[in-house]
Amino acid sequence: MPKRKIIVAIDGPAASGKSTTAKELAKKLGYVYLDTGAMYRACALQAMRGGISLNDISSIVLMLEKIDIQISYTEEGNIIWLNGEDVSQQIRTPEISSSASAISAIPAVRYKMVELQRKLGKNGGVVLEGRDIGTYVFPEAEAKFFMVADLEVRAKRRFKELAEKGIKTNYIDVLKELKERDEADANRSLAPLKPAEDAILIDTSNLTIEEQVHKLYEITCRIIEKI
Ligand code: DC
Repeated sequence: MPKRKIIVAIDGPAASGKSTTAKELAKKLGYVYLDTGAMYRACALQAMRGGISLNDISSIVLMLEKIDIQISYTEEGNIIWLNGEDVSQQIRTPEISSSASAISAIPAVRYKMVELQRKLGKNGGVVLEGRDIGTYVFPEAEAKFFMVADLEVRAKRRFKELAEKGIKTNYIDVLKELKERDEADANRSLAPLKPAEDAILIDTSNLTIEEQVHKLYEITCRIIEKI
């Protein structure tokens, strides 16, 4: 078991296998897992509940002053608390996915969430999963991965995942939503979705979860050994 506690950054487009891999990798390393997308999802839920338009930046800024997002860590993953309420399930709908992407492009939102992510991750011993961890949140992370997979593969995975949660949707809509969201995330001006120059690219299109986890674990252990 590796002894040095480092920061592991896992970025990539939606449904590329980041969450499952990051969670399992954290378990194997004895690290904490942090789902940064869930924070943007919680912001989107709060805006939706307050009837705030995502074009109304001043209302979003006011909302941010009052928002309290807390994370607790469990074997199964993160529990997301929004102003004291467990919203872990409510933030997983396709509507929230799209609004999380839109709200995450607002600089004030990013500054607040990034501040929280840095506070939670700065001591190391953490696997953070998101879009900009290796490029912006922790550019000094010792291990950086960028996970990709073919759009159709990702859409199939996400469709299955939503069906298992009892969320009704159809494959074409899921595919369209992923494509639009990736484009929006990659084209925003602040901290867009892109691989860090020193990130290791992992294509999960033809890999099982076990293979993905194994690959990242081996590479991370080698990085830890060297530092
Ligand atoms: O990982 P996810 O699908 O739960 O993320 C939801 C949205 O949040 C994603 O479309 C873009 C945004 N996000 C971000 O901008 N930066 C991150 N580090 C994580 C997520």
